[in-house]
Amino acid sequence: MSKYSVAEFGKVAVLAGGNSAEREVSLRSGAAVHEALQSAGVNAVLFDPAQQPLADLVRMGVNRVFIALHGRGGEDGQIQGALETLGLPYTGSGIMACALSMDKGRTKALWKGMGLPTAPSVTVQSAQMGSVDCEQLLAELGGQVMVKPAHEGSSIGMGMARNAEELAAALAAAAEFDSDMLVEAWLSGPEYTVAILGTQALPAIKVQTPHAFYDYAAKYQDNTTQYICPAELSAEQEQEVRALATAAFFAVGAEGWGRVDLMMNAAGELQLLELNTVPGMTAKSLVPMAAREVGLSFTDLVLEVLATTVDA
Ligand SMILES: Nc1ncnc2c1ncn2[C@@H]1O[C@H](COP(=O)(O)OP(=O)(O)O)[C@@H](O)[C@H]1O
Ligand SMILES: [Mg+2]
Repeated sequence: MSKYSVAEFGKVAVLAGGNSAEREVSLRSGAAVHEALQSAGVNAVLFDPAQQPLADLVRMGVNRVFIALHGRGGEDGQIQGALETLGLPYTGSGIMACALSMDKGRTKALWKGMGLPTAPSVTVQSAQMGSVDCEQLLAELGGQVMVKPAHEGSSIGMGMARNAEELAAALAAAAEFDSDMLVEAWLSGPEYTVAILGTQALPAIKVQTPHAFYDYAAKYQDNTTQYICPAELSAEQEQEVRALATAAFFAVGAEGWGRVDLMMNAAGELQLLELNTVPGMTAKSLVPMAAREVGLSFTDLVLEVLATTVDA
């Protein structure tokens, strides 16, 4: 249980919805968080910044904010900056870490610069797309790549490519969502995700999907993905993956809570994929699953995350 009393939280607004491509997921996260707060006796209200000006929070007498917005506008520092201007404490990372981790290419560059492992990649701007030598880019990155919009989440706009034709098509598909595309060397897996709560890593989760990769459908639409926690790692490997995730979290200056996605390459080396500063928070999401493994219920977890706003 949280060491903070419910009354100390005051009136809490759960921000959910917003305008990003991940709006639907956010609405589900927000509803689950709101319900958990209410069940714990917290005075909580749902607030959709796509429907109402943010300044209404002040008029409503809100004391702190639980951010359950995913993607652009909510997870990228914008809302965080606005809330700071309004003088409202909020959950999770600050402006800089949110803005940075919304950009997958720049996050990888920072990790690389700090000696943390991440797969080789090249960022392509949509304006240069026509002049990219797809053959050469593929050869440079090992012959098989993943193409991602640089600033999306939920696997939106992503695609795998093994030849020049597929790469051109994957770039065009990703360009529907972003002006920057990340082309990353293919990782054969397995895949892991590690939740960070406060300053501690929770147990790793192994993500196994029969799909070509953990795509939108595998995440939200069908039940074929297996989430394995504990993650079938030796004690030493579990320590290693948690230490790497924690280092990656602090490297970008993240705070409060978050989730780091990683995969192994063909040589069995862990490679950092990305940091989520506002991970999914539905009852079926991954951070709640890892929390359960250490005896924290969904409601306990929500209160722990909210409590990180109290001392700040
Ligand atoms: N380089 C890669 N090789 C193979 N699969 C990848 C690679 N990068 C990402 N994936 C797959 O795509 C999924 C989504 O990628 P990720 O970088 O985590 O972006 P998102 O923000 O959409 O979650 C991952 O969970 C993983 O299954
Ligand atoms: Mg991810």
